[in-house]
Amino acid sequence: MAAAAAVAAVMVVAVVAAAASAASPAAAGESTREFRWEVGYMTVAPLGVSQKVIAVNNQLPGPVLNVTTNWNVRVNVQNNLDEPLLLTWDGIQMRMNSWQDGVAGTNCPIPPGWNWTYQFQLKDQIGSFFYFPSLGLQRAAGGYGPITVNNRAVVPVPFAQPDGDIDVFIGDWYTKSHVELRKMLDDGKDLGIPDGILINGKGPYSYDNSLVPEGIQHETIGVEPGKTYRFRVHNVGTSTSLNFRIQNHNMRLVEAEGTYTLQQNFTNLDIHVGQSYSFLVTMDQNASTDYYIVASPRFVTDDHRWHDVTGVAILQYSNSKGKASGPLPDGPNDFYYKSYSMDQAKSIQMNTTSGAARPNPQGSFKYGSINITQTFILKNELPLRINGKRRRTINRISYSPPETPLRLADLHNLTGVYKTDFPTIFNNSTPKMASSVLNASYKGFLEIIFQNNDTDVQTYHLDGYSFFVVGMEYGEWTPDRRISYNKWAAVFRSTTQVFPGAWTAILVSLDNVGIWNLRSEKLDNWYNGQEVYVKVADPLGYNITEMIIPDNALYCGLLKNLQKPQIHQTSDKSSAHAADRWSMRILAMVC
Ligand SMILES: *[C@@H]1O[C@H](CO)[C@@H](O)[C@H](O)[C@H]1NC(C)=O
Ligand SMILES: *[C@@H]1O[C@H](CO)[C@@H](O)[C@H](O)[C@H]1NC(C)=O
Ligand SMILES: *[C@@H]1O[C@H](CO)[C@@H](O)[C@H](O)[C@H]1NC(C)=O
Ligand SMILES: *[C@@H]1O[C@H](CO)[C@@H](O)[C@H](O)[C@H]1NC(C)=O
Ligand SMILES: *[C@@H]1O[C@H](CO)[C@@H](O)[C@H](O)[C@H]1NC(C)=O
Ligand SMILES: *[C@@H]1O[C@H](CO)[C@@H](O)[C@H](O)[C@H]1NC(C)=O
Ligand SMILES: *[C@@H]1O[C@H](CO)[C@@H](O)[C@H](O)[C@H]1NC(C)=O
Ligand SMILES: *[C@@H]1O[C@H](CO)[C@@H](O)[C@H](O)[C@H]1NC(C)=O
Ligand SMILES: *[C@@H]1O[C@H](CO)[C@@H](O)[C@H](O)[C@H]1NC(C)=O
Ligand SMILES: *[C@@H]1O[C@H](CO)[C@@H](O)[C@H](O)[C@H]1NC(C)=O
Ligand SMILES: *[C@@H]1O[C@H](CO)[C@@H](O)[C@H](O)[C@H]1NC(C)=O
Repeated sequence: MAAAAAVAAVMVVAVVAAAASAASPAAAGESTREFRWEVGYMTVAPLGVSQKVIAVNNQLPGPVLNVTTNWNVRVNVQNNLDEPLLLTWDGIQMRMNSWQDGVAGTNCPIPPGWNWTYQFQLKDQIGSFFYFPSLGLQRAAGGYGPITVNNRAVVPVPFAQPDGDIDVFIGDWYTKSHVELRKMLDDGKDLGIPDGILINGKGPYSYDNSLVPEGIQHETIGVEPGKTYRFRVHNVGTSTSLNFRIQNHNMRLVEAEGTYTLQQNFTNLDIHVGQSYSFLVTMDQNASTDYYIVASPRFVTDDHRWHDVTGVAILQYSNSKGKASGPLPDGPNDFYYKSYSMDQAKSIQMNTTSGAARPNPQGSFKYGSINITQTFILKNELPLRINGKRRRTINRISYSPPETPLRLADLHNLTGVYKTDFPTIFNNSTPKMASSVLNASYKGFLEIIFQNNDTDVQTYHLDGYSFFVVGMEYGEWTPDRRISYNKWAAVFRSTTQVFPGAWTAILVSLDNVGIWNLRSEKLDNWYNGQEVYVKVADPLGYNITEMIIPDNALYCGLLKNLQKPQIHQTSDKSSAHAADRWSMRILAMVC
């Protein structure tokens, strides 16, 4: 992502241009690329147990959305599931365009059997991101894939062009379906220890045949000796923080969610749920054997079963002389070094002299000298009981998604769908379910303190924005901690971890009008209500600082009468009949 300065400059341009072009997301002069995706079930057995997973074009991970800054993109999504679907674009900012964000607060879901076309421009972003289905825990069944936003040829990257690009998706995995997992959460249960860690949708290499049953297919990444590859690694799991490492290889960190970092070598890095990083890895070993690629759980209990779930893939040189064998490379042992992971996270800083999507230095926006105009202190706690249900909260509010998307309700002047009364500071009020929204001021400079009162690592993601991660420390945040903020080179990203019993402070320049999802990236916590929307309104901005609603917008909830039925082709896919039955039901419900 460009530094906010560039963003601010772009905003001016965009506002001027908006008078002419906001109504159409396809800005003049930029080409439009079309993608057609079918989202449906596929039966595979990544951990040796046959299960229905969600695939895009019959692939898991799905196809790469390989695009370049400023392109206009159209993605036609055919929903062949038996459930409503929305795809969201993690880390893509959807400038002035929350209509395309693909979360329940801004979009009505695509009914089963229907298709819907997302249309957006990749405005001033570069880097490694991913898409995934945002509703009802569907990501626990897959449906994810890479988004690579390439730099324009005129903007250099701060490293030699790598010899290849390798996407790596790591994540905890259950052999239960997302429907069963939902039921467990509805029944107030924990999901428990996952059944495995997948790498690119595949189970572990049999590094120990007492732990890995026979017949499991693992991922093999083939490489050429001497070459340097860009590994784009994403944690798309349900709720487990993972440590990522490649045996005998240095991983040079170059990018975190669209920001070029100060380059440094890691032998391993903690990647929390929803986070993305790029590493340059040089194939500088002698290929006496293949090498292990490992993703192992972090911050878990000492239950021995955690030891049995480790993701293992194989790095294979073209001149490899044999199989990988022996013990896996060690992960961190922080028994004696409690702040290992936090110190590692704090060492990730922005390279302030390199450009990103634009040639401007990333550090040209002097965020450290801007006055904060608003502060939210958002605290999550252990699960709380609300009306007898076990729920997750932020500031004692467990989000209850209204049937009508918030942004649609506003556009149609519907009151009572939600309230902008989300408490900006934690207090000890009785926990409750509510459709409450945080009210933020357009053009303000917002400070958010995430205070994690749980015993587990938390990750938060904000749609529509990147933010500066200026501080994290153990204990309770107090205003005097601002003195410890990184005011010069904080990393600028969209997903941050908050360690247990600790706080993380972020700064956000509120330059993107819309209603934006702020969520726990941990699917179980998210599903149980740990999310909120941040409303950044410009009352005079519709069709000026905000795009108008797209022609193809879907309607639901209180606005369902506005929805026209979709005549969809009876596809020859086997799931189409089930989908048809479902869509008839949905049609009956919706229309
Ligand atoms: C992605 O696009 C870039 C630039 O257009 C191209 O060089 C690269 O080969 C593409 N990668 C994939 C995986 O398609
Ligand atoms: C999507 O739906 C439209 C009708 O709204 C139809 O014309 C089109 O063929 C459909 N596309 C696909 C891929 O099914
Ligand atoms: C920062 O970016 C500059 C400019 O692209 C590059 O020359 C330099 O090597 C980078 N520094 C580090 C430590 O990554
Ligand atoms: C980082 O690792 C690469 C590849 O192993 C190596 O060439 C380089 O010297 C290392 N850099 C530092 C600063 O250690
Ligand atoms: C290859 O590297 C390994 C580990 O660094 C070393 O133990 C081994 O002796 C080397 N083999 C050859 C043939 O150089
Ligand atoms: C920030 O606030 C201080 C005092 O509160 C004021 O002196 C300064 O001018 C403000 N800076 C900006 C850029 O508004
Ligand atoms: C909502 O209210 C605004 C301002 O009063 C009005 O211009 C607009 O037409 C209304 N929209 C609808 C859908 O009624
Ligand atoms: C505490 O938060 C609740 C909303 O959860 C709010 O209604 C109440 O006014 C707040 N109390 C104080 C003292 O701020
Ligand atoms: C929300 O914030 C805006 C901008 O600061 C303000 O005009 C509006 O009155 C606020 N609305 C509520 C309900 O607090
Ligand atoms: C949670 O908050 C309580 C009350 O402030 C405090 O005593 C406790 O140490 C906190 N626990 C964690 C893990 O932060
Ligand atoms: C948006 O602005 C354009 C250009 O001024 C205008 O032609 C169009 O009618 C406007 N659309 C709406 C819905 O206001």
